[in-house]
Amino acid sequence: MKLIVTGGAGFIGSAFVRLLLSTPGPYEITVLDKLTYAGNPDNLAPVASDPRYKFVQADIADAVAVNAVVDEVQPDAIVHFAAESHVDRSILSPEPVVQTNIFGTFTLLEAARRAGVKRFLHVSTDEVYGSIPEPHEADENYPLIASSPYSASKAGSDLLALSYWTTYKMPVMVTRASNNYGPYQFPEKLIPLMIANALEGKTLPVYGDGQQIRDWLYVDDHCRAILAVLEKGRAGEVYNIGGSRALPNLEVVQRIIAATGLDESSIRYVTDRPGHDRRYALTSDKLTRETGWAPQMEFEAGLAATIDWYRTNTRWIERVRTGAYREYYDQNYENR
Ligand code: NAD
Ligand code: DAU
Repeated sequence: MKLIVTGGAGFIGSAFVRLLLSTPGPYEITVLDKLTYAGNPDNLAPVASDPRYKFVQADIADAVAVNAVVDEVQPDAIVHFAAESHVDRSILSPEPVVQTNIFGTFTLLEAARRAGVKRFLHVSTDEVYGSIPEPHEADENYPLIASSPYSASKAGSDLLALSYWTTYKMPVMVTRASNNYGPYQFPEKLIPLMIANALEGKTLPVYGDGQQIRDWLYVDDHCRAILAVLEKGRAGEVYNIGGSRALPNLEVVQRIIAATGLDESSIRYVTDRPGHDRRYALTSDKLTRETGWAPQMEFEAGLAATIDWYRTNTRWIERVRTGAYREYYDQNYENR
């Protein structure tokens, strides 16, 4: 089965590629990635010499480049991870978010339609449901109430992708996952940023009161769910993927503090994120019912494994925390 995996040099896309190529199997994979600040060839080093793997550097919003890759590979399926994925960056600078997440997705959908691709899996997020009041959980029919430019761009691209099923009968599936964590995550998101700062003895910037709730999903559990949907999901359907582990941010930070030997004085409460969603909560019952998937990694074990990975892979962190990262960090955190 020939796959094009967009965004395969990023955090989740690279975990998906490593997972598929970790055992003998039917998959031949071409990664299509622009290598933005978040795309890192080091993430794919473990599969670099696998004959089932190829890499093409291209922008998903570049129709000429995308059509050339699709024509050459003639994929059975496209698994679409590529995105500008960080909420804070989308607030500071929404333009690339709209360009990649909406126009890039449109460009890929058109290329897939032209080529008659048999499966198109659009990887999306629970953020499209917005903040969920207690005690509710979003199922796949929950209204889309996106808050940030990032989540609005994902909601827009979800609807666009689904329209290709309704209108053209192109077999599109959409997955909406909760917050991922694990090795190789760029240190701009909560868990890797707090771990990297803690390991360097820096302060830990908690937004607002730190009582916002997120549902944590280990990245390999997410990738197994995506594979299940690719193999068993029904065309035109949306599948939620949750970690079944809701925690307030402050508690996550306190666990990282305890595991890295710091104390609570390293927490710095900073100005809240504008439009900050208070609580995410979703049910993955549909996915479990239809494919048998369930998350396997307990949060305690997953967090310990993640901290160990960052402790061991200091060179990886040093390389990604370059001048451009420092610039972003100062812009986001300096005057908070
Ligand atoms: P990431 O930021 O780590 O990686 C994104 C990848 O996309 C990078 O390799 C980057 O180079 C590539 N990319 C960006 N713009 C591109 C373009 N125009 N053309 C080609 N490649 C481009 O993101 P991630 O955390 O791995 O997220 C992957 C997907 O999963 C995204 O669609 C995101 O919305 C979704 N998602 C993420 C989470 C999470 O917690 N991280 C949760 C649910 C859903
Ligand atoms: O829910 C899925 C989404 O999860 C994905 O679609 C996004 O791609 C991914 O970035 C993530 O979005 P969040 O905004 O929830 O993740 P982030 O790691 O940026 O923040 C998690 C929570 O931690 C959020 O409430 C904001 C807070 N936070 C974050 C950072 C970076 C802090 O308090 N301090 C910080 O420095």
